[in-house]
Amino acid sequence: MSDVEHSTELRPETDVLTRGFDPKLSVGSARPAVFRSSTYVFSSPEEAEKAFDIMGGRAQLTPGESVDLVYSRFNHPNAEIVEEQILPLEPGAHAAAVFNSGMAAIMTALLAVVKPGDSIVYTVPIYGGTQTLILDFLQSFGIIGIPVKAGDGDEIDRVIRNARNPRVVLIETPANPTIVMTDIRRACDTVAAIHGSAGDGAESPARPLVMVDNTFLGPAFQHPLALGADVSLYSATKYLGGYSDIIGGVALARDAGLIKKIRAKRSLFGNILQPDECWILDTRLPTVHLRMNRQSKNAQRIAERLANHPNVEKVYYPTLFENAEQARIRDAQCDFPGGLISLDLKGGKAGAFDFLRNLRLARNAVSLGGVETLVCHPRTTTHSGWAKQALDEAGIGDGLVRVSIGIENWRDLLGDFERALSKINL
Ligand SMILES: Cc1ncc(COP(=O)(O)O)c(C=O)c1O
Repeated sequence: MSDVEHSTELRPETDVLTRGFDPKLSVGSARPAVFRSSTYVFSSPEEAEKAFDIMGGRAQLTPGESVDLVYSRFNHPNAEIVEEQILPLEPGAHAAAVFNSGMAAIMTALLAVVKPGDSIVYTVPIYGGTQTLILDFLQSFGIIGIPVKAGDGDEIDRVIRNARNPRVVLIETPANPTIVMTDIRRACDTVAAIHGSAGDGAESPARPLVMVDNTFLGPAFQHPLALGADVSLYSATKYLGGYSDIIGGVALARDAGLIKKIRAKRSLFGNILQPDECWILDTRLPTVHLRMNRQSKNAQRIAERLANHPNVEKVYYPTLFENAEQARIRDAQCDFPGGLISLDLKGGKAGAFDFLRNLRLARNAVSLGGVETLVCHPRTTTHSGWAKQALDEAGIGDGLVRVSIGIENWRDLLGDFERALSKINL
């Protein structure tokens, strides 16, 4: 912990720069050192015994008491620093756990709470890796995955009510790549109405936990924990990392006890974020709001201008929602529309490929959230494993491209898109 007094008065932009790191513990360096050591020397055999007792849940730390570090698969200083530093960015969070990928965060959070016979209700479309994890992998261990259509509140309520042993409701909002939004608060209210409020304890076996993959709009523009969710999950590879140069993941929760459970599984699986990556992530957190604000402003200007382009069938972007319920959810749970746009192009797959081939500034790559603009064709890349019917039903058509807007000058990007659009051979 830093020696700066942390009052609730500090605003996130200040708090993120002043907490989590004590220069005195790093020979006075103004920035954290990287502690690459795999193991830690105990101050005494008694302290070693205490550290293992606490890790094994046989003893509890009293307030203000500290414990020796043990071994870097369990914990290390750079993980502790970044897990403390990220808290003010996620309103309502009391604890965080960092992982070596977004998939590791999702998998570990799920496996910390589900057991054979339980159900996971999840919105579709959802990130392909998450879908494969639930449907192909967890299903084979007797955990039932129940897909529900993103944005369909009535259907989500009905499924939560009727599922057998529902243990997790996993919401990805907005959905990838169709930008459909799901009402987080409504799902939390439904869970609470049936199974008791959050105050009844996330630990209660009866109450399903609401987990939200907040990668697309968080941490700047959407705050699931403040809306009642139990866990906010991230691919830190995206906006948190911000430069397309690290793979990482984070789980944050209101209930520190739940993060403790998740960390226990992380120790077992060995998927903690490594010290160097923690240090990199730590350097990126103070600028995530700046980057996301710029990306969102750029994206809104571009999306709204491309909406009437003759070679564009439809633009999927929050400020262009035509559906009243989608607009209501957007206004209720998102501060800004964000940096992701999907474009349905005329000319189907050939039109989309012409567009991708002719981009000069934006790059044809999967992933998102970096300072550079990336564009991909979901139907043949990120979602290529899906059946044709599922793709059609989800609206992931042949002409759809997903654009992750960066921090370049928006006029240059718009020019790049307009030029590439003019090359579509209809
Ligand atoms: C919404 C979402 N969640 C989770 C993931 C998985 O993250 P990672 O690639 O860091 O494992 C991704 C990756 O693209 C994603 O887009």
